[in-house]
Amino acid sequence: MHIVHIAVEMAPIAKVGGFGDVVTSLSRAVQDLNHNVDIILPKYDCLKFSNVKDFQFHRSYSWGGTEIKVWFGKVEGLSVYFLEPQNGFFSAGCIYGCRNDGERFGFFCHAALEFLLQSGFHPDIIHCHDWSSAPVAQLFKDHYVHYGLSKARVVFTIHNLEFGAHLIGKAMEYSHKATTVSHTYSREVAGNPVIAPHLYKFHGILNGIDLDIWDPYNDKFIPISYTPENVVEGKRAAKEALQQRLGLKRADLPLVGIITRLTHQKGIHLIKHAIWRTLDRNGQVVLLGSAPDPRIQNDFVNLANQLHSSHSDCARLCLAYDEPLSHLIYAGADFILVPSIFEPCGLTQLTAMRYGSVPVVRKTGGLYDTVFDVDNDKERAEAQGLETNGFNFDGADATSVDYALNRAISAWYDGRDWFNSLCKRVMEQDWSWNRPALDYLELYHAARK
Ligand code: ADP
Ligand code: GLC
Repeated sequence: MHIVHIAVEMAPIAKVGGFGDVVTSLSRAVQDLNHNVDIILPKYDCLKFSNVKDFQFHRSYSWGGTEIKVWFGKVEGLSVYFLEPQNGFFSAGCIYGCRNDGERFGFFCHAALEFLLQSGFHPDIIHCHDWSSAPVAQLFKDHYVHYGLSKARVVFTIHNLEFGAHLIGKAMEYSHKATTVSHTYSREVAGNPVIAPHLYKFHGILNGIDLDIWDPYNDKFIPISYTPENVVEGKRAAKEALQQRLGLKRADLPLVGIITRLTHQKGIHLIKHAIWRTLDRNGQVVLLGSAPDPRIQNDFVNLANQLHSSHSDCARLCLAYDEPLSHLIYAGADFILVPSIFEPCGLTQLTAMRYGSVPVVRKTGGLYDTVFDVDNDKERAEAQGLETNGFNFDGADATSVDYALNRAISAWYDGRDWFNSLCKRVMEQDWSWNRPALDYLELYHAARK
């Protein structure tokens, strides 16, 4: 099959969050199953070009009153076509945040379909994502279905229903199949008016992570390679390196890591509470987070200053986007906390487990589907053929977080052998794309029937 993704994020060259990871890792998994996958992306000025191989001019065409230059390059082994309209739509800003984002991305969707048509591509599947490439579905139906792209079917994936409900509704209506990124989130949003009329073609498929990109045995950002067999030694070295890098002094304390966009979705008040609670319980905290909203950013700058005077030995807030540091935290932390208010899938808990860090999460969306509480979820885990792998909680208040965090920290102090075997166990679980990629292929086939 030939699959073309039309997307506005792609890791590692244009990544804001997990959506970018998924475009790359799902594509790689499907390509590894011997399908032909292409990606069409805007050519932002802020692309991380050092990660693009064989970058070259491909062709140009005219559409929408402007010339569009198309560039080609390889990213993580994938073929990517970069669209550069000469009207300058993608030279300002970085991915999101321009006043006219709707117009820019609407233009991109149309230009991408036009590129496929004018270049004589005949894809079987055109896969679009979230509000930003949702317009593809209706544009395809209105303008392209009778022309050279007629054999294509449109698949639409919702990574987050929080933004652009109107555009998402249109894509739900016009796409042949629609998905979201976990079963539980698909149930949580089933009653939403933009989803409800289309449940017959709507499916939850859990995201995976790319085991080659996130691999503690082969990771240049961590001090020693490790597998489940030497997880204790590997994580000890990573914790030491992390502490040294951040100037944290207490290797003898359990380390809670938080790696997140700092937005309402991620449970800001719960994150703040958990930081203080961890310190009260004789733990240490490293937060790596970036806040698109300057008020939230300021709030965390103030908190960082406060912690610097009261707990400089055992708390560090790194208020930035820093991919290499994220690898060291995944490896060096004992726990990764994800207290989201809602979470369509969540990749941080999956990556944490790949590095033998134990997830502590709120029971919502994909977090519910992937984290099984060591005290409460044995049966639920077994029903999935899994063993328990973390700590979880229900409510969105301080007491609920405490319920999970207290048990996690006590477990670290009370039974080091037990805790070490838990790290090994979580590391052995398979959260790759092996299974979900097959689910997508089945869906692609069903879309073509
Ligand atoms: P979302 O897409 O809602 O932000 P996910 O859990 O799906 O949440 O994906 C987040 C991705 O972004 C993960 O790959 C995580 O490691 C990464 N990430 C989040 N914040 C940062 C940061 N400040 N620095 C580096 N990576 C980050
Ligand atoms: C969105 C969601 C996140 C999901 C990611 C990838 O950003 O917030 O839960 O993991 O997309 O699908």
